[in-house]
Amino acid sequence: MDMHWLSDKGHTITGIELVEQAVHQFFDEAKTTPAIQQEGAHKRYTAGDLTILQGDLFTLPAEAASCEAWYDRAAMVALPSTMRQAYVNQIHSLCTPGSVGLMITFAYPQEQMQGPPFSLPDQEVSALFADRFQVTLLETVQLEDEKQRGLSELTSSVFKLVRI
Ligand SMILES: C[S@@+](CC[C@H](N)C(=O)[O-])C[C@H]1O[C@@H](n2cnc3c(N)ncnc32)[C@H](O)[C@@H]1O
Repeated sequence: MDMHWLSDKGHTITGIELVEQAVHQFFDEAKTTPAIQQEGAHKRYTAGDLTILQGDLFTLPAEAASCEAWYDRAAMVALPSTMRQAYVNQIHSLCTPGSVGLMITFAYPQEQMQGPPFSLPDQEVSALFADRFQVTLLETVQLEDEKQRGLSELTSSVFKLVRI
């Protein structure tokens, strides 16, 4: 839905998704038939201004996307903490200098729930990005409804991350 919304605003959108079935489902729901092209280890699905690169984000070559902006909803928080530095490195290589990212995270006492989503505290976002991105915490909200999961506290933060 977010990809369609951004596309309707006039942007050219590239999504990256590992699971082929999810890519097919996306285009089926949009009632469009994409053109499909194999590019090395990835498949490029294109329909109008919407592209999805199917394959592993971590092996995507820098020139495959060259984004001026990026949006992370439920992506970094879906990765175990051991993969976070590699994720930051890959975002850095796929985006041009000055590009702006919007990232939504969750934070909760990790011992109270097995991820995903994994807890990604605000301080860790700063520690991981700050040497190569300008980090601005735009907002943090308490998610009261999610306490049904047995969590004593759950917050969601939204970051603006500008690649230096
Ligand atoms: C929690 S889902 C979020 C999907 C979407 N952003 C949303 O908000 O609905 C995380 C997605 O990341 C994909 N994913 C996980 N590891 C990946 C990787 N290495 N490369 C590309 N996609 C990956 C998963 O297949 C899954 O669809």
